[in-house]
Amino acid sequence: MTDTRKSPQGEWSSHFAFILAATGSAVGLGNIWKFPYITGENGGGAFVLVYLLCVVLIGAPIMIAETLMGRRGRHNPITTMETLTAEANADPHWHYLGWMGISAGILILSYYSVIAGWASGYVLKAFTGSFFGADAPAIKQQFADFIGSPIQLAFWHTAFMLATMWIVKQGIHNGLEKALRWLMPSLFVLLILLVGYAMTTPGYFQGLHFLFNLDFSKLTGGSVLTAMGQAFFSLGLGMGAVMVYGAYLPKKVSITETVVIVSLADTVVALLAGIIIFPIVFSNGLPVNSGPGLIFETLPIAFGSMTGGWLFGIMFFVMLVLAALSSSVALIEPAVAWLVEARGFSREKAALWAGLLTWLLGFASIFSFNSWAGFKLFGHNLFELLDYVTANLMLPIGGFAIAIFAGWMMTADHSEAELDLPKPQYQIWQLLIKYLAPAGVFFVFLHVVGVL
Ligand code: PFF
Ligand code: NA
Repeated sequence: MTDTRKSPQGEWSSHFAFILAATGSAVGLGNIWKFPYITGENGGGAFVLVYLLCVVLIGAPIMIAETLMGRRGRHNPITTMETLTAEANADPHWHYLGWMGISAGILILSYYSVIAGWASGYVLKAFTGSFFGADAPAIKQQFADFIGSPIQLAFWHTAFMLATMWIVKQGIHNGLEKALRWLMPSLFVLLILLVGYAMTTPGYFQGLHFLFNLDFSKLTGGSVLTAMGQAFFSLGLGMGAVMVYGAYLPKKVSITETVVIVSLADTVVALLAGIIIFPIVFSNGLPVNSGPGLIFETLPIAFGSMTGGWLFGIMFFVMLVLAALSSSVALIEPAVAWLVEARGFSREKAALWAGLLTWLLGFASIFSFNSWAGFKLFGHNLFELLDYVTANLMLPIGGFAIAIFAGWMMTADHSEAELDLPKPQYQIWQLLIKYLAPAGVFFVFLHVVGVL
């Protein structure tokens, strides 16, 4: 019976297309912009280790669960949860999980697009040669001037949102699939080349030491939560994006295999970004904890001084924007799919309205870096609050709920049929999804509030 279920919005054209789309959703600003700066703020190696543990023990099993729930439900997160709860005779309140996911996607995209706008603005800076011969203080000043200008940030945020809406309107497997075919491999090659550059800098080993040396004295409860939040954010989990992409997945495809490939690719890209950034940080005597501006204050120094730096700079920021675009379409897709399937919108109208709302919300983040920089709640500006609430709270809570649902509410027959794994492997996943992953999320939360 399950074989006849199809998403109303069609399916991926192949297994490879799904891997590409899922990798596109995972690899983005989270890896190249966020991972380095939060690693810098949280002391390096020990934080990285906790992050990696969260990816393997919590993230990957939940990603399997989210994909299989999506493929079984075959719709937007709300409708999917309604279908699955009915099938499992579970409490109908579970569909609020879908609502939380859709909201988290819109909230994340509202600031994600602003940062993608920074990257877009930096394509132009790279192109016009702004980095040539500029030293670290000059590069820092360029960045401060840039984010100090609400007009510039609004311009690039608007451009990025328009691009997102335009791709989403076409349906995700038209243009996007083709673009990702060359984007992901080229991004990877470029990162490897930049690692080659980092190796030539005097701070290379100091950078590696920072990234991989385990100093647990630097690890606070807050860092552990940030590491776990980053695992969810980077894999794009806990908000229904994986669920909607899973809904477009053909029945024959192996979910576990896909999850292993995607989470591995995502992790490798994040680590490569760290291996590139920190040597530049140390070679120039910069602070590791300079926050969200870190890559914009470091990489241009490299592009301004290395051979071929002009071309590398342009290519890097272009690819960063494209990687962000393939994530932004995933962030907005749960909302769009819901508007189309449950509210009868055309894809075009759905993209327009969801995009418009996100665009407006984005101004809260834009002004956090200039006009409203002094406005703080609990010691954080609006951008920081949005990031904290979504990545550190909403995604892990969503992921926890997904684990409980897949592990305890769905019948084992159903999850076993979707995963189609040999018995021992299936049992390992059951163990992880029923006990280890939810307990992990729970303990991190207890740790943060000081109970553990
Ligand atoms: N995983 C993306 C990144 O690392 O940049 C961000 C993201 C995409 C989060 C899609 C959530 C999501 F649903
Ligand atoms: Na990522």
